[in-house]
Amino acid sequence: MNPVESPAATAVRHPLEPLTGDEIRLAAAIARRERNLGPAARFVFISLGEPARADLIAWEAADDPAPLPRMAAFNLWERSEGVLYEGVADLGAGTLVRWDAVPGALPPFLWEELLGIEEAVKSDARWQAAVAARGVTDPSLCMVDPWPSGHTGPQDDPVHGRIARPLTFVRTSPNDHGYARPVEGLVVTIAIDTMEVLEVEDHGVVPLPPHPGNYEPELMYEPGNIPAFDGPRTDVKPIVITQPEGPSFTLDGHHLTWQKWDLRIGFTPREGLVLHRVSYLDGGRLRPILHRASLSEMYIPYADPRPTHYRKNVFDEGEVGLGILANPLQLGCDCLGEIRYLDAVVNDNDGEPMVMRNAVCIHEEDRGIAWKHTDFRTEKAEVRRSRRLVISFIATVGNYEYGYFWYLSNDGTIEYEVKLSGVISSGALAPGETPDHGNLVAPGLYGPHHQHFFCVRLDMCVDGPGNSVYEVDSVAVPPGEENPYGNAWVTRALPLDSESVAQRTLDPMAGRYWKIVNNGSLNRLGQPVAYKLMPGGNVSPMWQPDGQQGRRGAFCAKHLWVTAHDPEQMYAGGAYVWQNPGPDGLPVYAAADRDLTDTDLTVWYVFGAHHIVRPEDWPVMPVARIGFELKPLGFFDGNPALDLPRPSSHACHHHAHHQEVTR
Ligand code: CO
Repeated sequence: MNPVESPAATAVRHPLEPLTGDEIRLAAAIARRERNLGPAARFVFISLGEPARADLIAWEAADDPAPLPRMAAFNLWERSEGVLYEGVADLGAGTLVRWDAVPGALPPFLWEELLGIEEAVKSDARWQAAVAARGVTDPSLCMVDPWPSGHTGPQDDPVHGRIARPLTFVRTSPNDHGYARPVEGLVVTIAIDTMEVLEVEDHGVVPLPPHPGNYEPELMYEPGNIPAFDGPRTDVKPIVITQPEGPSFTLDGHHLTWQKWDLRIGFTPREGLVLHRVSYLDGGRLRPILHRASLSEMYIPYADPRPTHYRKNVFDEGEVGLGILANPLQLGCDCLGEIRYLDAVVNDNDGEPMVMRNAVCIHEEDRGIAWKHTDFRTEKAEVRRSRRLVISFIATVGNYEYGYFWYLSNDGTIEYEVKLSGVISSGALAPGETPDHGNLVAPGLYGPHHQHFFCVRLDMCVDGPGNSVYEVDSVAVPPGEENPYGNAWVTRALPLDSESVAQRTLDPMAGRYWKIVNNGSLNRLGQPVAYKLMPGGNVSPMWQPDGQQGRRGAFCAKHLWVTAHDPEQMYAGGAYVWQNPGPDGLPVYAAADRDLTDTDLTVWYVFGAHHIVRPEDWPVMPVARIGFELKPLGFFDGNPALDLPRPSSHACHHHAHHQEVTR
């Protein structure tokens, strides 16, 4: 057997450089040849087979490291058997080093299926009759969105393989906003692998909402549009961000350095953006904080029991893939200033590379004041500017937009923020009816209540391996001898020393946070160095635990999980969530109840955006933000931003009282 030709060894410098297009093609070729695969073998995701944590650390520490074997990890849907396989190809050796069937696992939507579903549904006579009954004269203008089926019970077991439950919307012209006219009560069930429409449920005609809801300026000023405006604003003057000397960061391949930060950018077709080896240069020493950070899963359950909506519960990452949905960021102005973009290379279902142009955006932002003090006696003011490095990508998942933003600040803070925008998932109501489980946004049109849960997976490495996690509450001291003046309160740290204990919920009234500590590394006060996870906005799920949402989304029942580091445990809802009844993922991982003391561990933070839809969310939603922070806690010996230079602006470094005079 001839070995498949491997790409030049010099093409890759660091073991974490993402796969090149040639490497993706090579991985697919190796699998095809070694397993005699035919055209029914569909590649789901092909991504870098990341080196083990210890191997990578040793490689980085070595003076003249030997190259680590270059691996590609992939999963493959063998459509002819209805079996999902996981494989790893050694790209240098041209061999398969792993090939395992995963019993019962179903793959997400394949890229090639997304538009095929629309075509298949539109050619079904039952569907055609249902839209005709709603007065639709040109069905070619209909949009058929391929919603995953979920798993409401044994009736959704994969007897027909994977099924989807597409929903229909009506446009009146090709650029019209179709979500303004949802076809209520029409739910199609389609077998994805055969594209056979199994069932068309019609729960009765609800009139299409009467008003267009266009947002493009070419259409939105037409009469009848909701909301109505006379014309665009005319008083908006330009804001220009200039960085005449260029940005302060350097990008070498996927190695990014900025001020004292040092990290590597990764990208996978499932997770999208990944940060590796996030470290901070402190006194000449590069101190690691995060070994790997990514969005592990998203889960969006809907609250409406009506027939079109009760099955809506989607894992946008595990059922589709956020990387393959990344926007090319040159389309529209997503960032301001000196931008650097990274392309992402993902695979299509034949195993051929697809280049996503400008998928990742990197830029700097001024963020107001970093710190300030005015000495009122000397009349001297010292102030420094806060700046942050922004690393982001945006995914469009059907109607919704999600922007995923990592921020590294010049005071050692790491922030993660999701920006939610795009279009709500809409429903139609008969004239005069008001929704019980949602809110009207336009006449006859409503948005059901729902929640968007996100789970970020953080392989911690605070000052090296061997970390522990504590939950810290602030507690008022009971009245008595310990609290003679009624003012005393203390902090209490609970060690989260096993996986059964490390399943926690928020307590904002107690100022609860979680600190990730390296007990083997002390600061100058003799305290173990730490980073603390500060929750932002959050909510608990509203579902019943024994329903499909409670089972499938079981990881959302806790806001913080800590597990032992295991590179096979990547996905909070499970590796394969399609028609998976659950529970899977975190509750299963944590059932091993491993010890979490002074070891390599993974912190999972779950946060939910509670979306009670407003009229203002229509026809396209103003950005809603949610996220969390990781802040240094005794990691440094004092304010790490003290050495920021004084701002160069003339007004900023003069005595406060003299400002007017000297200008
Ligand atoms: Co929402």
